[in-house]
Amino acid sequence: MGAILWPGIAIHLLIISFLKSECRADVVLTDLDPCLPLLEKNISLNRHLLEPKSLLESRRLRWGDPEDLKSLEAERGPFDLVLLSDCIYYGDSLGPLVETLEGIGAEVLVSYEVRESEQKKVVQDGFFRLVKEKGFTAEEFPTSDCHPDYASPDIKVLRLKRKGR
Ligand SMILES: C[S@@+](CC[C@H](N)C(=O)[O-])C[C@H]1O[C@@H](n2cnc3c(N)ncnc32)[C@H](O)[C@@H]1O
Repeated sequence: MGAILWPGIAIHLLIISFLKSECRADVVLTDLDPCLPLLEKNISLNRHLLEPKSLLESRRLRWGDPEDLKSLEAERGPFDLVLLSDCIYYGDSLGPLVETLEGIGAEVLVSYEVRESEQKKVVQDGFFRLVKEKGFTAEEFPTSDCHPDYASPDIKVLRLKRKGR
């Protein structure tokens, strides 16, 4: 495994166990500027648990900002995998988010909670319509294939791939 991009502030057991596992990976955790200090704090609190050779760092990546993506890719790319968890939650972000996923060009593992509210459903449907329009295919992982400690019927995990890749 090579380089991974992980948007959002949470650094939880999943990433710790991933980096401690046999497959070493370099991971870049991304977010907006105001969240970076918290991201850094989380990294420093957990760094002692990681495989020493693994790179783990935080960087700004504003969805839809081509300059942020360009400089991140120049320094740390190309990326092999994007882990996108709980990032489909407001309508205005959908276009920029999908634009960034397109720009990265890597496979995407997306996880999200199935919501009851009509507004959240509209946002989630909008995301999947957009990725389809942009030529991604979506394949759902059955809950039974997910780790038993984290699996839940209302948490979906999908693999997004660009057609032809
Ligand atoms: C609900 S949190 C999920 C965080 C993490 N992935 C997780 O699973 O816990 C969504 C994250 O997306 C980030 N975010 C929201 N809009 C963004 C944007 N336009 N560009 C970059 N990151 C954004 C937020 O700051 C937040 O950290």
